[in-house]
Amino acid sequence: MIEEMTVGPCAEEADLTRFGEIASEAFAVPVEDNQPYFESVGVENVRLVRRGKHVVGGLAGIPKGQWFGGRAVPMNGVAAVAVAPYERARGAATTLLREFLKELRERGTPISSLYPATRRLYRRVGYEMAGDETEVTLPLKSIDLRDRELELRPMTDSDDDAVRAVYANWAARNPGNLDRVAFNWRRVRQFRKQPTHGYVVCRDGALEGYAYVRSITREGEPALLYTHDVVAATPAAARRLLTFLADFRTVRKEVKWRTNSTDTLLMTLTEGDYTLQHVGSWMLRIVDVAKALEARGYPPGMQAEVHFNVHDDLLPANNGKFVLEVGDAVGHVKSGGRGTFELDIRGLATLYSGYMTPDTIAAIKLGTAPEAELAQAGAVFAGPRPWMRDAF
Ligand SMILES: CC(C)(COP(=O)(O)OP(=O)(O)OC[C@H]1O[C@@H](n2cnc3c(N)ncnc32)[C@H](O)[C@@H]1OP(=O)(O)O)[C@@H](O)C(=O)NCCC(=O)NCCS
Repeated sequence: MIEEMTVGPCAEEADLTRFGEIASEAFAVPVEDNQPYFESVGVENVRLVRRGKHVVGGLAGIPKGQWFGGRAVPMNGVAAVAVAPYERARGAATTLLREFLKELRERGTPISSLYPATRRLYRRVGYEMAGDETEVTLPLKSIDLRDRELELRPMTDSDDDAVRAVYANWAARNPGNLDRVAFNWRRVRQFRKQPTHGYVVCRDGALEGYAYVRSITREGEPALLYTHDVVAATPAAARRLLTFLADFRTVRKEVKWRTNSTDTLLMTLTEGDYTLQHVGSWMLRIVDVAKALEARGYPPGMQAEVHFNVHDDLLPANNGKFVLEVGDAVGHVKSGGRGTFELDIRGLATLYSGYMTPDTIAAIKLGTAPEAELAQAGAVFAGPRPWMRDAF
């Protein structure tokens, strides 16, 4: 007899130990690294899938926020999805995700994001590609700026509030980036037990930018500089930070960081001697249509209505007709309306983040609407291309 699968939190310490073993086998990390990871995530955020009494897999779902249209939307970031090898391809991960999404809906979470190792699994439960994960490699010798006008000094604990404020201001203009919680800030400041070094750029004591850097050495390769986070709030800060990075050029060959193609640092360089690599994409799931649409921001000055008819196999309350009314940069949602934009919940996810245009959504058969309505929806969800700096 095949035993039933159930999904729930950790009931006892042994559950977490077993999931730790499964995760460490799945991601090839030492088993002793699991305890600090789960502590950092919060054991209350772990969900397990059991076959009968036995834990066969699990995930970590960490509440945080994600910026869309200039507003931080409450989001649950799903990570560490893993199933024991002997239990794979029997639906354990699908069951785990389905039950977890139902739970998120009950908890009032509007959206969920994740980095997929396979799209197929996550598409099946309503996630869709929604933003880029891109990394730049910049040879340090090609930085042709020497600008030391602003003060640059090591970061101290007393800079914390100012660093967070500069980050929030920047993230609000970079859709898809996180409204970080303690877990994310810890990863910026310490990566796999190695501390990063924080530096701030100031004018008359006021912070205009910062960077967290770490040197990476791999056997047989020249050491490189990795920047876990770098933000310049002003053009002078961008020039000072680039000069700071160039000052490593005698001992490091290149610097890498996760960014997008219009990063102000890259735009400040005189020449474009760098490469941008598309590392992957992240996926988004709309968990509560009305809450999600009301939580994000919209282009200021726009007055518009979009008449959706949403299809969601997993979360029935998302099904049906909704009107999104946009004005004064915010959106209000009412049930009903014409329902002329027929949209799968996955189509709504990628429209919501601004990743795929309505035309692309229609072309891959995730939605359909008359031409004029596709164009109107395109304008409502337009903005910079979404991407994300933080891995989680
Ligand atoms: C990915 C993983 C969690 C899937 O668990 P699972 O219980 O086998 O998944 P399910 O049985 O629910 O399968 C769901 C679908 O995903 C597909 N899938 C599963 N693993 C896949 C893989 N490695 N590559 C491509 N597709 C995969 C399955 O084919 C299935 O689709 P199908 O039924 O149409 O063929 C599991 O293989 C695993 O733990 N892998 C190692 C860790 C990992 O990659 N985690 C994901 C991090 S984002």
